[in-house]
Amino acid sequence: MIKGVSSAPTKASLSPNKASAKDALILKKLSLEVSVLNSNLKELPNIDSHITVLLDEAVHALAVKPDGVYVDGTFGRGGHSRKILEKLGSHGRLIAFDRDLKAIESSITINDQRFTMVHSHFAGMQVKLAEMGIFQVDGILLDLGISSPQIDEASRGFSFRYDAPLDMRMDQSGGQTAAEFIAATTEQQLAEVIKNYGEERFAKQIARAVIAERNDGRAITTTGQLAKVVAGAVTRFEPGQNPATRTFQALRIHVNQELEELTLAMPQCLALLAPQGRLAVISFHSLEDRIVKQFVRSQANRDDLPANFPVRAVDLPQPKLKSVGKSIKPSSKEVKCNPRSRSAVLRVAERTYVA
Ligand SMILES: C[S@@+](CC[C@H](N)C(=O)[O-])C[C@H]1O[C@@H](n2cnc3c(N)ncnc32)[C@H](O)[C@@H]1O
Repeated sequence: MIKGVSSAPTKASLSPNKASAKDALILKKLSLEVSVLNSNLKELPNIDSHITVLLDEAVHALAVKPDGVYVDGTFGRGGHSRKILEKLGSHGRLIAFDRDLKAIESSITINDQRFTMVHSHFAGMQVKLAEMGIFQVDGILLDLGISSPQIDEASRGFSFRYDAPLDMRMDQSGGQTAAEFIAATTEQQLAEVIKNYGEERFAKQIARAVIAERNDGRAITTTGQLAKVVAGAVTRFEPGQNPATRTFQALRIHVNQELEELTLAMPQCLALLAPQGRLAVISFHSLEDRIVKQFVRSQANRDDLPANFPVRAVDLPQPKLKSVGKSIKPSSKEVKCNPRSRSAVLRVAERTYVA
């Protein structure tokens, strides 16, 4: 039985043998209602659950030392955090960050002295850790993007599947909502956001349609309104994909400054990692993955120097990171169980001894 839903009388409990014609009718209606209720419940997502992506692979990549200090920069619903805690000994520590107050709220289910939850964006991690007297850590995990509860809770405004206020902020304690951004932006800036963050070829047409709607006195304040305007402007899209998919992704990335956050966090991770400390990052689209890949590469190889640079290889600055293995993608079994994992890519790097 589904928690919180009491069961309706069954055919057996009403004893059909003794039932009158009236009882039989009631019985028929009840069983119909129960089956409708059950099918509705099956369709409704549990809006507070998140299936952790690449759980074993990401925690394994951290090579957790029992007494080490670890950072989970994206707590979500704590799937990775819990697994890290399982691997830590009694002197280990885990500091988790999330900018979403609902994620912070959900962390109270972890009652563990080794665990500290911080409400902050991860680009603030070095400052927040310093405030706690932590200047070096043994591993950092970033599982980027949004969590299932954020997508599935209609009122967060991330999804075109529900009509709701166009919010899209991960941290609802401040900042500009997507509706506020659309109300204030120019057509050119909007087109750039949609093109650069959504890789949408109809970015110009969409921006024109959105601004025309706004200038006609119809402010775009809901997900439904935006999805409708975008659908009218996009003439071709991938089969099975909502025409507004790329525009919604772009606005979400812009509103939450997701790429700026990642760009600011990468050098902080490098500065915080102890020798042999591990960095594990799970990205969900090529824009994020490119930032991670290029940062690791820039710290791992000296390929930014010209080939005929007049210095011996041994005299060159030595790499501060080394890439660990190849990028890891979810297995077909994981994608089947959790289709939202399909675009995930895990990259792992290790801090060298070079100061
Ligand atoms: C994919 S979910 C993480 C899921 C988590 N690993 C789990 O197993 O439950 C991403 C989470 O990171 C948070 N997040 C995304 N970007 C962030 C940032 N720049 N700073 C802090 N938290 C961020 C989101 O609010 C969301 O809760």
